[in-house]
Amino acid sequence: MNILLFISILILLGLSVWLLYSRYQTLPCPAWLSWMVEMDNPFIKVHHASIIIYNLDIAPGMKVVDAGCGPGRLTIPLAHKLGPLGEVVALDIQEEMLTKVAKKAQIVNLHNIQFLKAGIGEGKLQHNQFDRALLVTVLGEIPNQASALKELFDALKSGGILSITEIILDPHFQSKSTVLRLAKTAGFREKNCFGGRFAFTMLLEKPQDL
Ligand SMILES: C[S@@+](CC[C@H](N)C(=O)[O-])C[C@H]1O[C@@H](n2cnc3c(N)ncnc32)[C@H](O)[C@@H]1O
Repeated sequence: MNILLFISILILLGLSVWLLYSRYQTLPCPAWLSWMVEMDNPFIKVHHASIIIYNLDIAPGMKVVDAGCGPGRLTIPLAHKLGPLGEVVALDIQEEMLTKVAKKAQIVNLHNIQFLKAGIGEGKLQHNQFDRALLVTVLGEIPNQASALKELFDALKSGGILSITEIILDPHFQSKSTVLRLAKTAGFREKNCFGGRFAFTMLLEKPQDL
């Protein structure tokens, strides 16, 4: 019993040190923690995959990039919603995350997901391709946030929408003002914002006239 307690304390300490360390580093969330990423936080509605997708106002046939898709918490329901004529590009810097998404897609027989192993901001996305882009608890992990938002801006069609979700429980949390400042610099216009100060989804539009 004492050994179990000791091991639990060690694990908790290790996790706390890692969380504190990653708060100040732009390290990607490791694949071994994807079980945690996959959970819809029961206390933060704005973080639920179904709510994020609902707020995104998508329609079957659209093309969407899930940037920093992780283990596919949003990719899989998105692919279902977009239907066979639509497509999701699941983009992540970690191969292990993409493998997890591919396994899930295979199990539920989804064929409308493209996989792209890349860092957002490296310029791998084609211009004017997407109706929607998602960046859910990813922004704080990206070393060059300005390049990342510029790439997503260029990848969206005119009138396309980028949805950014941030929650305070994420060690890489970015405030509303930071998100808005970075997004405006990239050329986006704020369209809507759901949630509060510590957990929100911001919808940012690429102006129609571009
Ligand atoms: C906290 S997880 C969020 C996963 C997913 N968006 C969700 O909400 O379930 C962050 C993900 O972003 C990915 N990531 C971090 N930096 C990245 C970058 N520069 N380019 C692409 N993906 C990145 C990580 O590998 C990780 O899978």
